[in-house]
Amino acid sequence: MPGTDPFALFAEWMALAEAEEINDPDAMALATATPDGRPSVRMVLMRRHGPEGFGFFTNLESRKGQEIAANPHGALCIHWKSLRKQVRAEGPLVQVSDADADAYFQSRSRNSRIGAWASDQSRPLDRRETFLDRIAETKARFGEEGEVGRPPHWSGFRLVPDRIEFWEDGEFRLHHRRLFVRQADGSWNEGLLYP
Ligand SMILES: Cc1cc2nc3c(=O)[nH]c(=O)nc-3n(C[C@H](O)[C@H](O)[C@H](O)COP(=O)(O)O)c2cc1C
Repeated sequence: MPGTDPFALFAEWMALAEAEEINDPDAMALATATPDGRPSVRMVLMRRHGPEGFGFFTNLESRKGQEIAANPHGALCIHWKSLRKQVRAEGPLVQVSDADADAYFQSRSRNSRIGAWASDQSRPLDRRETFLDRIAETKARFGEEGEVGRPPHWSGFRLVPDRIEFWEDGEFRLHHRRLFVRQADGSWNEGLLYP
């Protein structure tokens, strides 16, 4: 008998969260680390989920981008307060295809696309005005109607999980934890963890 597909279960939970959360049901904490194992974490939006992994988009030259380039492993955690549910996943980070990055970039508002050109994400900024000036310059460069394509330093990654854990709140902290571990043949082994 085939076991539960963790990506189908994730999609069910995400659909519940989309109906219940007050905003950003796809906001997740993403942890990366330097090659010597010093971790860092920040929120990003999970814009893809399914058998190819959990996808997000970002600046490749940001702190996270540089950490991923040097150590392509990550962990994520998503918590839906309204549902009292949490999902965690760990695995390698793989850059998305140019076609996927282009498609997602073009789905963003024009001002967000301009911002992606103007921001040196995670690098020091002397004062806010410098950034606003850069946005104005970038807008002038593209003109009112000009096509704003994806910058070369902007793309996305998929965290391809080898472990996914689903956590549900239980009364008296007797929570329910289901752990899925990917097997060598690609199938998933499901077990429980003490809370
Ligand atoms: C709810 C939320 C969603 C965010 N989504 C993204 C995102 O999808 N991509 C991104 O690059 N930054 C996103 N950010 C900003 C990041 O948290 C972070 O400030 C930025 O990516 C720089 O991180 P780094 O210096 O570790 O690279 C988001 C922040 C919040 C609070």
